[in-house]
Amino acid sequence: MIFVTGGAGFIGSNFVLQWIEAESDPLVNLDKLTYAGNPENLSTLVGNARHIFVRGDIGDRALVGRLLQEHKPHAIVNFAAESHVDRSIHGPVDFVQTNIMGTFALLEEARAYWSALAQPEKDRFRFLHVSTDEVYGSLGAGDPAFTETTPYAPSSPYAASKAAADHLLRAYHHTYGFPAITTNCSNNYGPCQFPEKLIPLMVLNGWHQKPLPVYGDGKNIRDWLYVADHCAAVRLVLAKGRPGEAYNIGGHGEMTNLDVVKAICALLDEARPPHAPHEKLISFVKDRPGHDRRYAMDARKIRAELGWQPRESFATGLRKTVEWYVDNMKWAERITSGEYQRWIETNYAKRGDA
Ligand code: NAD
Ligand code: DAU
Repeated sequence: MIFVTGGAGFIGSNFVLQWIEAESDPLVNLDKLTYAGNPENLSTLVGNARHIFVRGDIGDRALVGRLLQEHKPHAIVNFAAESHVDRSIHGPVDFVQTNIMGTFALLEEARAYWSALAQPEKDRFRFLHVSTDEVYGSLGAGDPAFTETTPYAPSSPYAASKAAADHLLRAYHHTYGFPAITTNCSNNYGPCQFPEKLIPLMVLNGWHQKPLPVYGDGKNIRDWLYVADHCAAVRLVLAKGRPGEAYNIGGHGEMTNLDVVKAICALLDEARPPHAPHEKLISFVKDRPGHDRRYAMDARKIRAELGWQPRESFATGLRKTVEWYVDNMKWAERITSGEYQRWIETNYAKRGDA
């Protein structure tokens, strides 16, 4: 049994589906079902006895403690978080609550559970915490990519909250010998991503002939990683990673935002030639405050130690992704009501476009 948190979100649900397909252990999935958690992502697992879903908060220590005693997992994988940088700028409190206090509560319950295990189970137990490249701050154009020893310099409230949690993980290993491992990955993309994030937002806006709001000059760079490649890396780190270590996971996919949006437009042109060119929808809007200029991951450690490398290039991964959204417009329609509309209103009202 493994214990997954945040498994109804974007990366978590892709991980849960891949785990059930590729591994034999069952899993418990604890998710609060915030606006970003969507049980529909896991609809193919309804009736599957190997997936036990529990709605709840990682900060609820009584619940977490009870679930650990009941299911006796040999590992915890923590995806649960508030994940959107723009939302952390509008209101950081949920980020501090879940990403710092929630992770702390989960860690404390996990430590108590682990401490009481018999030695063989204790030796086997792992706590894998999923973090981000954003903890390292921003790179200049010619700077080398982030390595696992790059000093932390988070820029946004989101990144600062993730950095705080990473420090707790490190301290728990150093102080208690707790078998914590951290993975820091770059920007994921793929099926089931909530359309507040760049790629699904642009695909859906382009499909509906709405403006494509590019922040600032569009030259900020992100290192894009296909979500299935990320999930495979997490499984490998869980199986073979060394406690106390951090592993960077990147897609070798550095692109400017403008080039990403243009690549999406080209795929939409293929899918809907009468609306071409979709690039005419591109609209430059007010920049994100404190916007990091460039992220790039040096993923040589995970390749050398564990033999991982991404299978998808940005071109192949983006094609699959756009096809998925085009084939699943109903999925998008169901989540882009209510709370989503209010978010779009708040975030883009003063930027000059949406
Ligand atoms: P997401 O926002 O799509 O999903 C987060 C999930 O966590 C949701 O299902 C939500 O309901 C759940 N959740 C939130 N607060 C909770 C709480 N207190 N208790 C239990 N569940 C809670 O996020 P994502 O993009 O899938 O990211 C998953 C993890 O990966 C996060 O920790 C994020 O920081 C990290 N990460 C994401 C990316 C990316 O590009 N998406 C890149 C690097 C790291
Ligand atoms: O780098 C890893 C991080 O990637 C994760 O830790 C975060 O959880 C995840 O949200 C993501 O953060 P970003 O801020 O990089 O992702 P986002 O999709 O919000 O934005 C990607 C880039 O696109 C960024 O430079 C801002 C820009 N952007 C975004 C939106 C939503 C736009 O130009 N226009 C937009 O409308």
